[in-house]
Amino acid sequence: MSLRVLVTAVVTAVLVARLTRWAYRRRWALALRGLPGPPSPSGIFGHFGTVSFRKFQGWHATYGPTFKYHGMLGEAHLYTADTTALHHIVNNSEVYQKAPLVRYSLIQLVGRGLLALEGEEHTKMRKIMSPAFGVSQIRGLTELFVDKSVELRDVWAQESPNDAGWIQVDVLSGLKRMTLDVIGKAGFAYEFHALNAGDEAPTPLGAAFRELFMTQIGQRPTVVTFLRAKFPLLRYILPGNKRTLNARLTMDKIGFQLLQNAKASIASGDKDTERRDLLSLLVKSNMSEEDSHRLSDAEVIAQLPTFFTAGHETTSTATAWALYALARAPDVQDKLRNELSAMGTDNPSLDALNSLPYLEKFVREVMRVHAPVAFTSRMVMQDDVIPLGRPYTDTRGVSHSSIPVRKGLFIRIPVAVVNQDPWIWGDDAAEFNPDRWDAIPPNASTIPGVYVQLFTFFGGSHNCIGWRFALAEIKALVYTLVRAYEVELAVPVEDVDESLGLIRRPILKSRMGEGPQLPMRLRKI
Ligand code: HEM
Ligand SMILES: *[C@@H]1O[C@H](CO)[C@@H](O)[C@H](O)[C@H]1NC(C)=O
Ligand SMILES: *[C@@H]1O[C@H](CO)[C@@H](O)[C@H](O)[C@H]1NC(C)=O
Ligand SMILES: *[C@@H]1O[C@H](CO)[C@@H](O)[C@H](O)[C@H]1NC(C)=O
Repeated sequence: MSLRVLVTAVVTAVLVARLTRWAYRRRWALALRGLPGPPSPSGIFGHFGTVSFRKFQGWHATYGPTFKYHGMLGEAHLYTADTTALHHIVNNSEVYQKAPLVRYSLIQLVGRGLLALEGEEHTKMRKIMSPAFGVSQIRGLTELFVDKSVELRDVWAQESPNDAGWIQVDVLSGLKRMTLDVIGKAGFAYEFHALNAGDEAPTPLGAAFRELFMTQIGQRPTVVTFLRAKFPLLRYILPGNKRTLNARLTMDKIGFQLLQNAKASIASGDKDTERRDLLSLLVKSNMSEEDSHRLSDAEVIAQLPTFFTAGHETTSTATAWALYALARAPDVQDKLRNELSAMGTDNPSLDALNSLPYLEKFVREVMRVHAPVAFTSRMVMQDDVIPLGRPYTDTRGVSHSSIPVRKGLFIRIPVAVVNQDPWIWGDDAAEFNPDRWDAIPPNASTIPGVYVQLFTFFGGSHNCIGWRFALAEIKALVYTLVRAYEVELAVPVEDVDESLGLIRRPILKSRMGEGPQLPMRLRKI
């Protein structure tokens, strides 16, 4: 018998044993018995790979804010949008961590970046990085946000208009290039040249990045990914994605170069060319830490892909939905443009942007209705009891104001659904209405978020480190584009849908195969 057959036989036997134990635990220990929820469509796959923002929203309306649904092999998952439960979860980040499966996939994709870290490793990295995302840092970056917005405005202005003066563009694609250029400069003093590069892959890093992005990020998980993540042994049998790996290696190589550049420019001590990008700040704060808290070069380079991905598509998607919202509500568009046009400058400061009340309400409403991250998840790391603000009634009619949870339970946290919960926002929760921010409903204060009464950027110690960055960039874009252009949809509104999966991207029902896009018409003011 060949060695290969033997090894395969042993691995298979171990796997079958582990699978059986695992299935048994899921069936009995973690069953969440009595908790209502949608029936499982398949004994093997459960709801795996079919969940989306809309589906959760529908179940939430039927079963209430806390219910169970099913994962692979019938494993029960807990869904909760109950704000008391969410407070408990985000405040106890040692008990509720990202599941090993999720962390494994994240690390495969973007490396050991902040998003994938937990525990002490996370605390240390987060502490060193936080100053780079504070108010004064963002204030300093606003000029870059505005400059790049103006560049995008001017790139679009080169399209030739029809007789009525309208040009047609896929706004999503332009916005993605803009936010990529911004994160390159703001993060690492790197020029992607995405805005003026047209369709060819602009730079080596741009190409590596595009590879990761287009093929992987935010896609729904495949069964192979699931198995590799769940059973480490299988990683030796089922191949990983070679292209992803190569793209990651390229990124690390370029990251190393960028880090050397940052160190050299700091060592030269030249005040005139003082860099304020994230990478230089990390090198500087590393220098002022005690030895035990210092970061290795590898630890810092590992942050790059996370910042490119986390900082780029979320923000461009949000801004695309902002333009969509303006196209759907011409009165909102007029009102916003009146406010923005009254401001005499093309180059507003952060304080100037933040002084515009209607812009503020508009951006809040975009972040509420079109929260780009649909959901996240956590796993219970030790047995616990989750308190509920809204009790559930079990299948025997008994009411419960808390849920005992066992180690290993997977919890789905529906970030975007929380923002549209009628219990918080009333019956018109799904409607886009910036004026609702004039009278914030009392239940909204129960959300454990970092940014106004929204859950868009999550909460607790893992909240989005880039939330101020994202809002300033979105405001700069909206300010610049809405002053320059009147906007309308270039396709029937019924044709616009959102993609399933982690990030809520705009897609066209009639052209699904073409991937995310948002064709719009613009006319110069
Ligand atoms: C509209 C734009 C954005 C949205 C909606 C968003 C949303 C989120 C959410 C929901 C999380 C929590 C994920 C979880 O723990 O499960 C998160 C974490 C994170 N975000 Fe953002 N984000 C945005 C923009 C940005 C930007 C611009 C950056 C960086 C420049 C960034 C960097 C990060 C990082 C590093 C984390 C991990 C934080 C940690 O675990 O300590 N994000 N974001
Ligand atoms: C969670 O932590 C925040 C900030 O420390 C605190 O204001 C809040 O009351 C805590 N919530 C719960 C439910 O413990
Ligand atoms: C942090 O400091 C240590 C010790 O001086 C050094 O070896 C390391 O390269 C530094 N890391 C970065 C990213 O600057
Ligand atoms: C807010 O919470 C209270 C108490 O749970 C509830 O009775 C009320 O219906 C909620 N408000 C709205 C607008 O649904």
